[in-house]
Amino acid sequence: MPTSTAQPSTATATREKHTGLFRCIAFFLLALIVIVGITVLVIWIVIKPKRLVYTIEDGSIKNFNLNNNHLNSTFNFLIRAHNPNGRASIYYDSIEVSVAYDDQTLAFNTLEPFHQPTRNVTRLKTGIVAENAALSGSVSKDLRVEKASGDVELDVHLKAKIRFKVGIWKSGHRTLRILCSPVMVHFSKSKSFQRTYCDIDL
Ligand SMILES: *[C@@H]1O[C@H](CO)[C@@H](O)[C@H](O)[C@H]1NC(C)=O
Ligand SMILES: *[C@@H]1O[C@H](CO)[C@@H](O)[C@H](O)[C@H]1NC(C)=O
Repeated sequence: MPTSTAQPSTATATREKHTGLFRCIAFFLLALIVIVGITVLVIWIVIKPKRLVYTIEDGSIKNFNLNNNHLNSTFNFLIRAHNPNGRASIYYDSIEVSVAYDDQTLAFNTLEPFHQPTRNVTRLKTGIVAENAALSGSVSKDLRVEKASGDVELDVHLKAKIRFKVGIWKSGHRTLRILCSPVMVHFSKSKSFQRTYCDIDL
């Protein structure tokens, strides 16, 4: 008789032991998730990452000369780069800027690398020179019409390799892509420039 009662009680004990183990693991995992979550939240609150703000403040075209589907011209832009972050400064290790019309790149240039402090506005002056740039027939024709009309809508692209610095920690390289479109530029200096806001892709 004692053996028959002993059997089920051992099984119950084993089941209880398993349940206890599962509870333990579940609790451990839950605790881990909560700890990781709180850590990320605290880092997020401390750093308060904010989007970079790019605008084009001024643009002009000089020495525009279009002949036989070839273009000579200098495009000048004043680009305003705003880092609104109070903790993260930015290393711009390489910056490439290009100007396009109708999806055709007319010219590009590189800018000097720089370090942008926290809560800083830096204005980048850039002259982008098209030197006998070969254009497609249709782009050439359209540009000629734009020139006659007095203004042209251009796209300005920036591509930068950047790193963030928070305290002594530096992030890895990230590619920052900026598109300012459409940038209305007047061929004559008399008309005032309309500020253009850019889209940021990081
Ligand atoms: C552009 O300038 C170069 C010399 O700098 C000249 O050889 C070429 O003909 C010019 N092209 C146009 C379209 O004016
Ligand atoms: C932004 O930082 C640059 C140095 O990278 C400095 O020359 C400039 O004065 C700063 N501008 C402002 C508004 O703090």
